[in-house]
Amino acid sequence: MESLTPRPHISARPAAPLTGSIGVPGDKSISHRALMFGALAIGQTRISGLLEGEDVLRTAGAMRALGAEISRDGADWLVAGRGIGGLTEPADVLDMGNSGTAARLLAGILASHDLYAVMTGDASLRKRPMARVIEPLKGTGAQFFARSGNRLPLTIIGTREAMPLTYRLPVASAQVKSAVLLAGLNARGVTEVEEPEPTRDHSENMLRHFGAQVSVERAGKGRLIRLTGQPELRAADVVVPGDPSSAAFPIAAALLVPGSKVTITGAGLNPLRTGLFESLREMGAELTIENARIEGGEPVGDIVAAYTELRAVDVPAERAPSMIDEYPILAVLCAAANGTSRLRGLSELRVKESDRLSATAALLRVNGVQVEIEGDDLIIHGTGSIPGGGLVETHMDHRLAMSALVLGQASKEPARIDDASFIDTSFPGFLTLMRGLGANMVAA
Ligand code: S3P
Repeated sequence: MESLTPRPHISARPAAPLTGSIGVPGDKSISHRALMFGALAIGQTRISGLLEGEDVLRTAGAMRALGAEISRDGADWLVAGRGIGGLTEPADVLDMGNSGTAARLLAGILASHDLYAVMTGDASLRKRPMARVIEPLKGTGAQFFARSGNRLPLTIIGTREAMPLTYRLPVASAQVKSAVLLAGLNARGVTEVEEPEPTRDHSENMLRHFGAQVSVERAGKGRLIRLTGQPELRAADVVVPGDPSSAAFPIAAALLVPGSKVTITGAGLNPLRTGLFESLREMGAELTIENARIEGGEPVGDIVAAYTELRAVDVPAERAPSMIDEYPILAVLCAAANGTSRLRGLSELRVKESDRLSATAALLRVNGVQVEIEGDDLIIHGTGSIPGGGLVETHMDHRLAMSALVLGQASKEPARIDDASFIDTSFPGFLTLMRGLGANMVAA
C-alpha cells in the first residue's frame, strides 16, 4: 500500500513575476458526486471536466467494484449506472486512498444497499473520524464495525429496508450531510437533514439534476434539506467546473509575487465555496471576476488576481464552511500581510487530511513566521515579508504541500517540502501549471 520509494522533495524559491492565463483541474467535490450519482442512475451519464486526481480515481474504482461501468471517452468520462438499490457486493476491500469525501459519501450509499462491504484507506484516512457518519447512518438499520475510535477499516452491512433518517448535524459538514442524503435515496419516505450553517450544496444541486425531489429551506442560521426516497434517478450529463479550492493556489502566488497578474479561467464560484475570495477582498487583494456565467447548473467565472500589498484580516468563524479547505493558503497570505490576522473557529481543521491547524502553524513557524493557536483560532503576525528557509512536513496532506510551495515564491529564502506526492490527490499537474506561470519550484 504505502510506497517504499523516496518521497519527492521540492524546493520553492523566490520567483520573477507570475503571468498568464490557465484553467485548473475539475472540482473535487463535484467530481466525486458525478461518479457516485451516475452509478446510482439509470442510463449513461457523460461527465466532462472530471478531476482525474487520485481521490476521484478512488471513487471511480469503488463504484466500478460495486457494479457500475465507468470508462473514459476522449476527455469525457462515461458512467453506466445500476439504478437506486442496484449496486452489487464488491469482491474485495474498497480502498479509498486519501479521500475523506469518497469514504464518507460511500458509507451513506452502502448503508441502504443490501450488501457486505469493507472500506479502508491510506495512513492519513485511517486516522480520520468516521463516527460522524456511522452514528447517523446506524439509524437506517445498517450495521457498522470499525477499528477502535471508529476509524477505517470499516465493515458495513447494509440494509434492504432502510429507514429514512431525520438528523441535525452537530458540526457543519457537507460530507456528513451528503452521507445522510445518499442513504436516504434508497429509504422509503422522506429523509431530513438540518445543518447548523450552510455548507457546500453540490449534492442537493446534483440530486435534483438527476431527477430527485429535494427541498431546501432556511432553518435559523442554517438549512433544512428534505429528500424524497426511492426516486428514479435518471442519467444526466455533468459539466464539472474548475475547482475554486485549486484556483486558490495560483491566485495566492499572484497576490504574493510583485509584478504578477494571473487569470484562472472557468473556476467554480458557488457562493458556498467562495469565502476565501471574500476574505481576500477584506485584505485589499486586487481580485476581479470576469465572464460570470452559469455552466452545468453551477456559477462559473474567470478570476483575475494581481500582486497586492495585503493587510491583515479577521475571519469570522461563520465563514469557515465556505472556505474550509482554504485556511492553509490563506494563512500563508496572512504571513505576508502587514499586521496580525486572526482566523477563527477552526476546530474542523484538526480532522482533515492532517491536523491542519497545527500543521499550518508549523508550516509558518519553520519559515520564520510568528504564529499562535488560541483555542480554535489561528493568529498570524504578518510583517510584510516571510523569512522562509524551512523544510515543511506535509503529513500526507496535498493542501499543506501546495501552500508551502506558494509561500516559497515570495519568501526571502527558499522553502522546501518533504513530500510532493500527495499533490496529485486534488491537483494533478500542479507543478507544471505553476511553472508555466513562472513559478520557481524545483526538485531538491
Ligand atoms: C467536502 C466537504 C468538506 C471539505 C472536503 C470536501 C465535500 O469536508 O473539506 O474537501 O465534498 O463534501 P467536511 O464536510 O468534512 O467539512
